[in-house]
Amino acid sequence: MSTDQLRIGVIGCGAGIFHLEGYAEEPRVKVVALAGLDTDRCQALAKRFDIPAIYSDYQELLAQDDIDAVSIAVPNNLHKPVVIAALASGKHVLIEKPLARHEDEAREMVEAAKRYGKILAVAFQRRTRHDIEIVRDEIAAGNFGRVYYAKAFWMRRSGIPGLGSWFTSKEAAGGGPLIDLGVHVLDMALYVLGNPKVTSVSAATYAEIGPQGRGNWPGRRQSFAPGGPNGYEVEDLATAFLRFGDGGTLLLEASWASFTEMGDDFGIQVYGGNGGARIFAKNYAHVDTLEIYRNIGDTTADSKPRLIERPGHARIIQGFVDGILNGTPVSPDGEEGLDRVRLIDAIYKSAELGREITVE
Ligand SMILES: NC(=O)c1ccc[n+]([C@@H]2O[C@H](COP(=O)([O-])OP(=O)(O)OC[C@H]3O[C@@H](n4cnc5c(N)ncnc54)[C@H](O)[C@@H]3O)[C@@H](O)[C@H]2O)c1
Repeated sequence: MSTDQLRIGVIGCGAGIFHLEGYAEEPRVKVVALAGLDTDRCQALAKRFDIPAIYSDYQELLAQDDIDAVSIAVPNNLHKPVVIAALASGKHVLIEKPLARHEDEAREMVEAAKRYGKILAVAFQRRTRHDIEIVRDEIAAGNFGRVYYAKAFWMRRSGIPGLGSWFTSKEAAGGGPLIDLGVHVLDMALYVLGNPKVTSVSAATYAEIGPQGRGNWPGRRQSFAPGGPNGYEVEDLATAFLRFGDGGTLLLEASWASFTEMGDDFGIQVYGGNGGARIFAKNYAHVDTLEIYRNIGDTTADSKPRLIERPGHARIIQGFVDGILNGTPVSPDGEEGLDRVRLIDAIYKSAELGREITVE
Protein backbone atom coordinates (compact mmCIF):
# COMPACT_ATOMS: atom_id res chain seq x y z
CA MET A 1 0.00 0.00 0.00
CA SER A 2 1.23 3.51 -0.73
CA THR A 3 2.31 5.25 2.45
CA ASP A 4 1.40 8.92 1.96
CA GLN A 5 -1.83 8.96 -0.07
CA LEU A 6 -4.08 6.03 -0.93
CA ARG A 7 -4.39 5.49 -4.66
CA ILE A 8 -7.99 5.00 -5.74
CA GLY A 9 -9.75 3.68 -8.84
CA VAL A 10 -13.41 4.35 -9.66
CA ILE A 11 -15.41 1.95 -11.83
CA GLY A 12 -18.63 3.39 -13.30
CA CYS A 13 -19.24 6.93 -14.52
CA GLY A 14 -22.88 7.42 -13.47
CA ALA A 15 -23.20 7.30 -9.69
CA GLY A 16 -19.39 7.12 -9.80
CA ILE A 17 -19.52 10.91 -9.79
CA PHE A 18 -20.71 10.92 -6.15
CA HIS A 19 -17.62 8.92 -5.23
CA LEU A 20 -15.35 11.27 -7.18
CA GLU A 21 -16.89 14.26 -5.38
CA GLY A 22 -16.40 12.46 -2.06
CA TYR A 23 -12.77 11.57 -2.76
CA ALA A 24 -12.13 15.17 -3.85
CA GLU A 25 -12.90 16.21 -0.24
CA GLU A 26 -10.54 13.61 1.25
CA PRO A 27 -6.88 14.72 1.39
CA ARG A 28 -5.64 11.22 2.25
CA VAL A 29 -6.46 9.86 -1.23
CA LYS A 30 -5.80 10.47 -4.89
CA VAL A 31 -8.02 9.07 -7.65
CA VAL A 32 -5.64 7.72 -10.29
CA ALA A 33 -7.89 5.73 -12.64
CA LEU A 34 -11.46 5.60 -13.90
CA ALA A 35 -13.26 2.87 -15.87
CA GLY A 36 -16.57 2.80 -17.73
CA LEU A 37 -18.04 1.83 -21.07
CA ASP A 38 -19.60 5.24 -21.75
CA THR A 39 -16.50 6.97 -23.01
CA ASP A 40 -17.90 10.51 -23.27
CA ARG A 41 -19.20 10.56 -19.71
CA CYS A 42 -15.97 9.02 -18.37
CA GLN A 43 -13.75 11.42 -20.30
CA ALA A 44 -15.69 14.40 -18.98
CA LEU A 45 -15.27 13.12 -15.41
CA ALA A 46 -11.57 12.37 -15.90
CA LYS A 47 -11.07 15.91 -17.10
CA ARG A 48 -13.07 17.47 -14.28
CA PHE A 49 -11.34 15.45 -11.55
CA ASP A 50 -7.90 15.37 -13.20
CA ILE A 51 -7.67 11.58 -13.41
CA PRO A 52 -4.67 10.38 -15.44
CA ALA A 53 -5.87 6.91 -16.58
CA ILE A 54 -9.19 5.98 -18.22
CA TYR A 55 -10.18 2.45 -19.23
CA SER A 56 -13.31 0.99 -20.74
CA ASP A 57 -12.58 -2.50 -19.39
CA TYR A 58 -12.63 -2.57 -15.58
CA GLN A 59 -10.17 -5.50 -15.65
CA GLU A 60 -7.51 -3.17 -16.99
CA LEU A 61 -8.04 -0.83 -14.06
CA LEU A 62 -7.83 -3.76 -11.63
CA ALA A 63 -4.59 -4.90 -13.28
CA GLN A 64 -2.98 -1.63 -12.16
CA ASP A 65 -1.26 -2.93 -9.01
CA ASP A 66 -0.44 0.50 -7.61
CA ILE A 67 -4.13 1.03 -6.76
CA ASP A 68 -5.04 0.45 -3.08
CA ALA A 69 -8.83 0.67 -3.23
CA VAL A 70 -11.72 1.00 -5.66
CA SER A 71 -15.20 2.44 -5.68
CA ILE A 72 -17.62 0.46 -7.83
CA ALA A 73 -20.81 1.94 -9.30
CA VAL A 74 -21.94 -0.37 -12.09
CA PRO A 75 -25.30 -2.04 -12.83
CA ASN A 76 -26.41 -4.42 -10.07
CA ASN A 77 -25.76 -7.64 -12.02
CA LEU A 78 -22.08 -6.65 -12.26
CA HIS A 79 -21.63 -5.97 -8.54
CA LYS A 80 -20.62 -9.52 -7.69
CA PRO A 81 -18.14 -10.19 -10.52
CA VAL A 82 -16.52 -6.76 -10.34
CA VAL A 83 -16.30 -6.72 -6.53
CA ILE A 84 -14.82 -10.22 -6.34
CA ALA A 85 -12.32 -9.44 -9.12
CA ALA A 86 -11.33 -6.24 -7.27
CA LEU A 87 -10.86 -8.07 -3.95
CA ALA A 88 -8.88 -10.81 -5.71
CA SER A 89 -6.62 -8.16 -7.23
CA GLY A 90 -5.77 -7.00 -3.69
CA LYS A 91 -7.96 -3.90 -3.50
CA HIS A 92 -10.28 -2.69 -0.78
CA VAL A 93 -13.79 -2.09 -2.14
CA LEU A 94 -16.53 0.48 -1.65
CA ILE A 95 -19.55 -0.80 -3.59
CA GLU A 96 -22.76 1.03 -4.41
CA LYS A 97 -26.03 -0.16 -2.93
CA PRO A 98 -27.61 -2.66 -3.20
CA LEU A 99 -24.67 -4.93 -2.35
CA ALA A 100 -26.07 -7.51 -4.80
CA ARG A 101 -29.25 -8.66 -6.53
CA HIS A 102 -29.69 -11.68 -4.24
CA GLU A 103 -28.57 -13.08 -0.92
CA ASP A 104 -26.40 -15.84 -2.42
CA GLU A 105 -24.41 -13.30 -4.45
CA ALA A 106 -24.04 -11.02 -1.44
CA ARG A 107 -22.84 -13.91 0.72
CA GLU A 108 -20.15 -14.84 -1.83
CA MET A 109 -18.96 -11.23 -1.84
CA VAL A 110 -18.73 -11.04 1.95
CA GLU A 111 -16.86 -14.34 2.03
CA ALA A 112 -14.47 -13.12 -0.68
CA ALA A 113 -13.65 -10.01 1.38
CA LYS A 114 -12.79 -12.24 4.34
CA ARG A 115 -10.77 -14.64 2.19
CA TYR A 116 -8.68 -11.87 0.64
CA GLY A 117 -8.45 -9.91 3.90
CA LYS A 118 -9.83 -6.70 2.36
CA ILE A 119 -12.47 -4.19 3.40
CA LEU A 120 -15.88 -4.38 1.74
CA ALA A 121 -17.93 -1.23 2.42
CA VAL A 122 -21.40 -0.39 1.05
CA ALA A 123 -22.53 3.11 0.01
CA PHE A 124 -25.68 3.51 2.11
CA GLN A 125 -24.79 7.17 2.30
CA ARG A 126 -28.26 8.35 3.29
CA ARG A 127 -27.88 6.97 6.80
CA THR A 128 -25.24 9.65 7.42
CA ARG A 129 -27.91 12.39 7.15
CA HIS A 130 -28.15 14.71 10.14
CA ASP A 131 -31.87 13.97 10.70
CA ILE A 132 -31.24 10.21 10.62
CA GLU A 133 -28.36 10.48 13.11
CA ILE A 134 -30.48 12.57 15.51
CA VAL A 135 -33.38 10.11 15.49
CA ARG A 136 -31.02 7.15 15.85
CA ASP A 137 -29.30 8.78 18.84
CA GLU A 138 -32.62 9.69 20.50
CA ILE A 139 -33.87 6.11 20.16
CA ALA A 140 -30.54 4.64 21.33
CA ALA A 141 -30.62 6.92 24.39
CA GLY A 142 -34.12 5.64 25.22
CA ASN A 143 -35.64 9.10 24.89
CA PHE A 144 -38.70 7.88 22.96
CA GLY A 145 -39.28 4.90 25.25
CA ARG A 146 -40.01 1.63 23.49
CA VAL A 147 -40.29 2.28 19.75
CA TYR A 148 -42.95 -0.15 18.60
CA TYR A 149 -43.91 1.04 15.12
CA ALA A 150 -42.17 2.69 12.17
CA LYS A 151 -42.95 3.70 8.62
CA ALA A 152 -40.42 4.14 5.82
CA PHE A 153 -41.17 5.18 2.27
CA TRP A 154 -39.65 6.50 -0.93
CA MET A 155 -42.26 7.55 -3.47
CA ARG A 156 -41.84 9.18 -6.86
CA ARG A 157 -44.56 10.49 -9.12
CA SER A 158 -42.55 9.90 -12.28
CA GLY A 159 -39.08 8.58 -11.63
CA ILE A 160 -38.38 5.30 -13.42
CA PRO A 161 -34.61 5.72 -13.91
CA GLY A 162 -34.69 4.76 -17.59
CA LEU A 163 -37.51 2.82 -19.22
CA GLY A 164 -35.81 0.06 -21.21
CA SER A 165 -32.44 0.55 -19.48
CA TRP A 166 -30.75 -1.98 -17.18
CA PHE A 167 -32.84 -0.58 -14.28
CA THR A 168 -36.03 -2.11 -15.69
CA SER A 169 -34.45 -5.48 -16.54
CA LYS A 170 -35.07 -8.09 -13.82
CA GLU A 171 -31.87 -9.88 -14.77
CA ALA A 172 -29.68 -6.75 -14.70
CA ALA A 173 -31.19 -4.95 -11.70
CA GLY A 174 -32.64 -7.81 -9.63
CA GLY A 175 -35.83 -5.79 -9.11
CA GLY A 176 -37.39 -2.33 -9.39
CA PRO A 177 -37.90 0.51 -6.89
CA LEU A 178 -37.76 -1.88 -3.93
CA ILE A 179 -34.15 -2.88 -4.58
CA ASP A 180 -33.25 0.60 -5.87
CA LEU A 181 -34.95 3.04 -3.46
CA GLY A 182 -36.56 0.73 -0.92
CA VAL A 183 -33.18 -0.65 0.09
CA HIS A 184 -32.07 2.89 1.09
CA VAL A 185 -35.11 3.55 3.30
CA LEU A 186 -35.05 0.02 4.68
CA ASP A 187 -31.42 0.60 5.64
CA MET A 188 -32.21 4.00 7.19
CA ALA A 189 -35.17 2.61 9.15
CA LEU A 190 -33.29 -0.41 10.51
CA TYR A 191 -30.32 1.81 11.32
CA VAL A 192 -32.37 4.30 13.35
CA LEU A 193 -34.20 1.45 15.10
CA GLY A 194 -30.89 -0.15 16.18
CA ASN A 195 -31.07 -3.09 13.76
CA PRO A 196 -33.92 -5.11 15.30
CA LYS A 197 -34.15 -8.70 14.09
CA VAL A 198 -36.78 -9.13 11.36
CA THR A 199 -38.82 -12.30 11.90
CA SER A 200 -41.42 -12.15 9.13
CA VAL A 201 -42.41 -10.22 6.03
CA SER A 202 -45.67 -9.77 4.17
CA ALA A 203 -45.43 -7.91 0.87
CA ALA A 204 -46.99 -7.10 -2.48
CA THR A 205 -45.55 -5.64 -5.67
CA TYR A 206 -47.31 -3.97 -8.59
CA ALA A 207 -46.35 -3.04 -12.15
CA GLU A 208 -49.13 -0.75 -13.34
CA ILE A 209 -47.49 2.31 -14.91
CA GLY A 210 -44.09 1.21 -16.25
CA PRO A 211 -45.51 -1.46 -18.55
CA GLN A 212 -47.59 1.29 -20.20
CA GLY A 213 -44.32 3.03 -21.13
CA ARG A 214 -45.14 5.85 -18.68
CA GLY A 215 -43.56 7.15 -15.49
CA ASN A 216 -40.03 7.73 -16.77
CA TRP A 217 -37.81 10.21 -14.99
CA PRO A 218 -37.93 13.06 -17.53
CA GLY A 219 -34.76 13.24 -19.59
CA ARG A 220 -32.99 10.45 -17.69
CA ARG A 221 -30.98 7.55 -19.05
CA GLN A 222 -32.88 7.07 -22.27
CA SER A 223 -29.75 6.96 -24.36
CA PHE A 224 -27.54 4.54 -22.45
CA ALA A 225 -28.69 0.99 -21.79
CA PRO A 226 -25.83 -1.46 -21.34
CA GLY A 227 -27.32 -4.67 -22.64
CA GLY A 228 -30.71 -4.06 -21.03
CA PRO A 229 -33.71 -5.48 -22.84
CA ASN A 230 -36.39 -2.95 -23.66
CA GLY A 231 -39.24 -4.52 -21.75
CA TYR A 232 -40.47 -3.45 -18.33
CA GLU A 233 -39.80 -6.51 -16.16
CA VAL A 234 -39.83 -5.17 -12.61
CA GLU A 235 -42.36 -3.69 -10.17
CA ASP A 236 -43.16 0.01 -10.11
CA LEU A 237 -44.48 -0.09 -6.53
CA ALA A 238 -43.70 -2.36 -3.60
CA THR A 239 -45.25 -2.42 -0.15
CA ALA A 240 -44.15 -4.58 2.78
CA PHE A 241 -44.97 -5.13 6.42
CA LEU A 242 -42.09 -6.41 8.54
CA ARG A 243 -42.37 -7.88 12.04
CA PHE A 244 -39.48 -7.69 14.51
CA GLY A 245 -38.55 -10.20 17.20
CA ASP A 246 -39.34 -7.61 19.89
CA GLY A 247 -42.95 -7.26 18.68
CA GLY A 248 -42.29 -4.01 16.78
CA THR A 249 -43.33 -3.55 13.15
CA LEU A 250 -42.25 -1.56 10.08
CA LEU A 251 -44.32 -0.53 7.07
CA LEU A 252 -42.22 0.00 3.94
CA GLU A 253 -43.23 1.52 0.59
CA ALA A 254 -41.16 2.20 -2.51
CA SER A 255 -42.26 3.43 -5.90
CA TRP A 256 -40.69 4.88 -9.03
CA ALA A 257 -44.04 5.87 -10.53
CA SER A 258 -47.38 6.40 -8.84
CA PHE A 259 -50.23 8.86 -9.02
CA THR A 260 -49.32 10.87 -5.97
CA GLU A 261 -48.13 14.37 -5.21
CA MET A 262 -45.43 15.42 -7.71
CA GLY A 263 -42.05 14.73 -6.21
CA ASP A 264 -39.26 12.35 -5.33
CA ASP A 265 -39.69 12.09 -1.58
CA PHE A 266 -38.61 9.78 1.18
CA GLY A 267 -39.27 9.60 4.87
CA ILE A 268 -39.14 7.68 8.10
CA GLN A 269 -41.54 7.95 11.03
CA VAL A 270 -41.02 6.27 14.39
CA TYR A 271 -43.55 5.83 17.16
CA GLY A 272 -42.43 5.24 20.75
CA GLY A 273 -44.26 5.10 24.06
CA ASN A 274 -42.59 8.29 25.23
CA GLY A 275 -41.94 10.20 22.01
CA GLY A 276 -41.60 9.94 18.28
CA ALA A 277 -40.18 11.58 15.19
CA ARG A 278 -40.90 12.18 11.54
CA ILE A 279 -38.36 12.72 8.80
CA PHE A 280 -39.81 13.91 5.51
CA ALA A 281 -37.25 14.70 2.79
CA LYS A 282 -39.08 16.37 -0.07
CA ASN A 283 -37.02 16.13 -3.26
CA TYR A 284 -33.88 15.13 -1.33
CA ALA A 285 -34.11 18.05 1.14
CA HIS A 286 -31.60 17.94 4.00
CA VAL A 287 -32.89 20.77 6.20
CA ASP A 288 -36.32 21.42 7.74
CA THR A 289 -36.98 17.70 7.38
CA LEU A 290 -37.25 16.57 11.01
CA GLU A 291 -39.98 16.93 13.62
CA ILE A 292 -39.63 15.50 17.11
CA TYR A 293 -42.78 14.74 19.08
CA ARG A 294 -42.66 14.75 22.90
CA ASN A 295 -44.63 15.89 25.90
CA ILE A 296 -43.57 18.18 28.70
CA GLY A 297 -45.78 17.55 31.70
CA ASP A 298 -49.34 17.20 30.42
CA THR A 299 -48.86 19.10 27.17
CA THR A 300 -47.14 18.63 23.81
CA ALA A 301 -43.70 20.09 23.24
CA ASP A 302 -42.85 19.28 19.64
CA SER A 303 -39.73 20.65 18.01
CA LYS A 304 -38.08 21.08 14.66
CA PRO A 305 -34.32 20.73 15.18
CA ARG A 306 -31.97 22.87 13.12
CA LEU A 307 -30.15 20.64 10.65
CA ILE A 308 -27.07 20.84 8.51
CA GLU A 309 -26.62 19.34 5.08
CA ARG A 310 -23.95 16.67 5.00
CA PRO A 311 -22.37 15.23 1.86
CA GLY A 312 -23.27 11.55 2.20
CA HIS A 313 -20.73 9.83 -0.01
CA ALA A 314 -17.93 11.97 1.42
CA ARG A 315 -18.77 10.72 4.91
CA ILE A 316 -18.92 7.09 3.78
CA ILE A 317 -15.58 7.59 2.02
CA GLN A 318 -14.07 9.11 5.16
CA GLY A 319 -15.03 5.95 7.08
CA PHE A 320 -13.72 3.74 4.27
CA VAL A 321 -10.35 5.54 4.27
CA ASP A 322 -10.18 5.41 8.10
CA GLY A 323 -10.81 1.67 7.88
CA ILE A 324 -8.01 1.17 5.37
CA LEU A 325 -5.47 3.42 7.06
CA ASN A 326 -6.27 2.94 10.75
CA GLY A 327 -8.14 -0.36 10.89
CA THR A 328 -11.27 1.25 12.37
CA PRO A 329 -14.46 -0.75 11.73
CA VAL A 330 -16.22 0.33 8.54
CA SER A 331 -19.96 0.96 8.61
CA PRO A 332 -22.01 0.05 6.68
CA ASP A 333 -19.96 -3.01 5.81
CA GLY A 334 -20.57 -6.07 3.65
CA GLU A 335 -22.44 -7.88 6.46
CA GLU A 336 -24.99 -5.06 6.71
CA GLY A 337 -25.23 -4.94 2.92
CA LEU A 338 -25.90 -8.69 2.97
CA ASP A 339 -28.56 -8.31 5.66
CA ARG A 340 -30.45 -5.73 3.57
CA VAL A 341 -30.26 -7.91 0.43
CA ARG A 342 -31.55 -10.89 2.43
CA LEU A 343 -34.59 -8.85 3.47
CA ILE A 344 -35.18 -7.56 -0.07
CA ASP A 345 -35.13 -11.20 -1.24
CA ALA A 346 -37.67 -12.08 1.47
CA ILE A 347 -39.93 -9.18 0.45
CA TYR A 348 -39.91 -10.27 -3.21
CA LYS A 349 -40.52 -13.86 -2.15
CA SER A 350 -43.51 -12.90 -0.01
CA ALA A 351 -44.95 -10.83 -2.87
CA GLU A 352 -44.51 -13.73 -5.27
CA LEU A 353 -46.20 -16.19 -2.90
CA GLY A 354 -48.92 -13.73 -1.89
CA ARG A 355 -48.51 -14.43 1.83
CA GLU A 356 -46.45 -13.67 4.91
CA ILE A 357 -43.16 -15.55 5.15
CA THR A 358 -40.86 -16.23 8.05
CA VAL A 359 -37.36 -14.76 7.99
CA GLU A 360 -34.64 -16.86 9.64
N1 LIG B 1 -26.11 5.57 -3.44
C1 LIG B 1 -26.96 6.18 -4.28
O1 LIG B 1 -27.69 7.08 -3.88
C2 LIG B 1 -27.01 5.75 -5.73
C3 LIG B 1 -27.51 6.62 -6.69
C4 LIG B 1 -27.54 6.18 -8.02
C5 LIG B 1 -27.10 4.90 -8.35
N2 LIG B 1 -26.62 4.08 -7.38
C6 LIG B 1 -26.13 2.72 -7.70
O2 LIG B 1 -24.99 2.81 -8.54
C7 LIG B 1 -24.95 1.71 -9.44
C8 LIG B 1 -24.86 2.26 -10.86
O3 LIG B 1 -26.01 3.04 -11.13
P1 LIG B 1 -25.93 4.29 -12.14
O4 LIG B 1 -27.15 5.09 -11.89
O5 LIG B 1 -24.61 4.93 -12.04
O6 LIG B 1 -26.06 3.50 -13.54
P2 LIG B 1 -25.58 4.05 -14.96
O7 LIG B 1 -26.16 3.13 -15.96
O8 LIG B 1 -25.83 5.51 -15.05
O9 LIG B 1 -23.98 3.88 -14.94
C9 LIG B 1 -23.39 2.60 -14.91
C10 LIG B 1 -21.90 2.74 -15.18
O10 LIG B 1 -21.33 1.43 -15.18
C11 LIG B 1 -20.49 1.31 -16.31
N3 LIG B 1 -20.35 -0.07 -16.73
C12 LIG B 1 -21.32 -0.93 -17.11
N4 LIG B 1 -20.76 -2.11 -17.46
C13 LIG B 1 -19.43 -1.98 -17.30
C14 LIG B 1 -18.30 -2.82 -17.52
N5 LIG B 1 -18.45 -4.07 -17.98
N6 LIG B 1 -17.07 -2.35 -17.26
C15 LIG B 1 -16.91 -1.08 -16.82
N7 LIG B 1 -17.93 -0.23 -16.58
C16 LIG B 1 -19.16 -0.68 -16.84
C17 LIG B 1 -21.18 2.13 -17.37
O11 LIG B 1 -20.26 2.42 -18.43
C18 LIG B 1 -21.60 3.34 -16.56
O12 LIG B 1 -20.53 4.24 -16.47
C19 LIG B 1 -26.23 0.90 -9.19
O13 LIG B 1 -25.92 -0.18 -8.36
C20 LIG B 1 -27.14 1.87 -8.46
O14 LIG B 1 -28.02 1.23 -7.56
C21 LIG B 1 -26.56 4.49 -6.08
